[in-house]
Amino acid sequence: MKKDLWNLLLKKGLLLCTLFIPILSLSAQDVTIPILTANHAIVLQTDNINRLHTVYFGKSLTNENEYKSVAKSFNFKDSDAGIYDGAYTPAGTWNLSEPAIQITHADGNRSLELKYFSHEQKNIDENTTLTSVILKDPNYPFHVTLFYKVWKKENVIEQWTEIEHTEKSAILLQKYASANLYSTTKEFYLTTFQGGYAKEMQPAETKLVQGMRSVESKLGTRAMLLQSPNFILSFGKPASENEGSVMVGQLAWSGNFKLEFEIDSYKNLRLIAGINPYNSEYSLAPGQTFKTPSLIYALSNNGTGEASRNLHSWARKYRVLEGEGKRVTLLNNWEATYFDFDENKITALFKDAKNLGVDLFLLDDGWFGNKYPRNSDNAGLGDWQENVKKLPHGIGYLVKEATKAGIKFGIWIEPEMVNPKSELYEKHLDWVIRQPERPEIYYRNQLVLDLTNPEVQDHVFGIVDNLFTKNPELAFIKWDCNAVIYNAFSQYLKDKGIPQSQLYVDYVHGLYKVLDRIRMKYPKVPMMLCSGGGGRGDYELLKYFTEFWPSDDTEPIERIFMQWNYSYFFPSIVTDNHVTNWGKQPLKFRTDVASMGKLGFDIVAGKLSLNDKLFAKQAVCNYNAFKEIVWHGDLYRLVNPNEAEIAALMFVEQAKSKAIVFNYLVNTRQKITATERPVILNGLDPQKKYIIREINLYPGTHSTIDSTLVYSGDFLMKVGINPDVTLERTSVVLEVVEK
Ligand code: GLA
Repeated sequence: MKKDLWNLLLKKGLLLCTLFIPILSLSAQDVTIPILTANHAIVLQTDNINRLHTVYFGKSLTNENEYKSVAKSFNFKDSDAGIYDGAYTPAGTWNLSEPAIQITHADGNRSLELKYFSHEQKNIDENTTLTSVILKDPNYPFHVTLFYKVWKKENVIEQWTEIEHTEKSAILLQKYASANLYSTTKEFYLTTFQGGYAKEMQPAETKLVQGMRSVESKLGTRAMLLQSPNFILSFGKPASENEGSVMVGQLAWSGNFKLEFEIDSYKNLRLIAGINPYNSEYSLAPGQTFKTPSLIYALSNNGTGEASRNLHSWARKYRVLEGEGKRVTLLNNWEATYFDFDENKITALFKDAKNLGVDLFLLDDGWFGNKYPRNSDNAGLGDWQENVKKLPHGIGYLVKEATKAGIKFGIWIEPEMVNPKSELYEKHLDWVIRQPERPEIYYRNQLVLDLTNPEVQDHVFGIVDNLFTKNPELAFIKWDCNAVIYNAFSQYLKDKGIPQSQLYVDYVHGLYKVLDRIRMKYPKVPMMLCSGGGGRGDYELLKYFTEFWPSDDTEPIERIFMQWNYSYFFPSIVTDNHVTNWGKQPLKFRTDVASMGKLGFDIVAGKLSLNDKLFAKQAVCNYNAFKEIVWHGDLYRLVNPNEAEIAALMFVEQAKSKAIVFNYLVNTRQKITATERPVILNGLDPQKKYIIREINLYPGTHSTIDSTLVYSGDFLMKVGINPDVTLERTSVVLEVVEK
């Protein structure tokens, strides 16, 4: 065995581990690597000079031995067009299309060749396998390892790459994608999600044509808002809910990302996803490893519905903090008071929270800052001491008072940020991301702290640690992030001689380091991720957070569309929905919509009319009875509000004995008198018998649904049930219970 191979094996621990079998190919024979989920296969194969190709991306074959023959059925002549199907396409040698990786070697050479060296496949548990493939540059001591983690049952794949070298000095990574996929299906339809503040996640589906369609962000502190790293790729025809082959995916990275969908000259699809290479050249020292973020996707041959359900189960079971756990319902004071509150006003709200029946009171922005009190969004951010005028007895007092009132207490922070009008800014200008020679540019009157700096990391950790140390009963954190990075420049990186082009990447790494520390010390306390509405909500941050805030837009009809769009990617247990005063819909409508995720309120509950109060209390009670189904059950999107005058969504308990169906009138232009057609249910047991009862009725109203009728699951899934949505009954919640 060659010496360098031997050393590499030792380094990787391959010789000691008995769990898996490394497969080595030193000859130029074809090596075929099938990466298999329950229903899908990605097949990698070497050619006669050991370059690695993606030769298959599609339904799994019954006979595993046949994967090696797939490539022979295709006749794409590489000589005309370069090679399109590289498993991880390098730049500067044979490749003529978009690379997955582009580097400058230590000696200044900008070319890269990658050849198959070895691979291994190991079973992590019954459902999970990890395939890793090492590709090496034959001329330089440089290699990448491609990782494919597969959850078979859920048909979910997570892909990432690790880059290492032992060249004489640092190399420069210019592009370093997480994944590089190739599909030869005919015709591809891509749904991406764009938006802006209070209109996040607006979908747009396009047929991909030859050339490049890229989706990216350059916001620095957050991935989402203008573009989102979530996408649906549909093979052969536009995406639909219950049929067709689809991929529902996300790049799990909390900063600048880039997704590239290139249709090549054979009309095949090349998908390259990773950190946005924009202004992000990264210097990698010999012996260090650069680990890319993950591309995560669910594959289905039965449409987006099944893909989402699988992604949701995966997220709850394997990814999200406390994904299979509980959540707290809450009353938030943001829209009830904005910055205008004091101790008395807040303690009075505790009683409202208790009367409403929620678990927790959440104190929002405005509780801190003394030299520069936080009475609006232009001052105080960074000075995390209680404002003595508003809260003379401090947070500790509020926590105690909340406990006395019989509820838990949570608090809002925005620890990565600073207002120029703050003591923190005066003391630590060097901690602020800004161009010293240029005028400052503000986003919501604030600037971003430089998380590449370990002192800033300590500061951010300290804010959370201090709150918990002083108030061990603190039961919830809302972690906000309201600004993007303008004037990207880090004094810390300059002082350390680190290239400025690492700022965007090291910022996100700095954030993860802080969150690692927080979770080491406070492993379970629920934390909501918020970013000026829905700027953050990716599967990397959701390892640390129990939930996220999808948008400041809580107008309930808009919200139905928004929650629908988020639900392609996220289980409802992670999306926080609050009842507010946005829009003209009645309290019942707003509460029903918010009940399709993690329920909260952001209203002055004490000032509601008597009937509204009665309704809200009962609705919280009902929510407590069905929340397990919404949080942990299977979601079926029944009627798409983009295609009908109503929207209908259904959550089904795993045992199929209970379900909740939400129906809303979304198009009042049509003046419908009653829903013409029944809503066809899904996910039930055809053999079981069910009764249907309407819940969340507003005081003084009566249901038009006959709860004495018994239906078979078969009937409900073929004929359905008419929810009788009318102009008088704009929101109808049905409970389906096995008889
Ligand atoms: C952001 C959040 C809001 C609220 C404010 C406070 O806009 O999205 O929910 O917390 O900040 O300033």
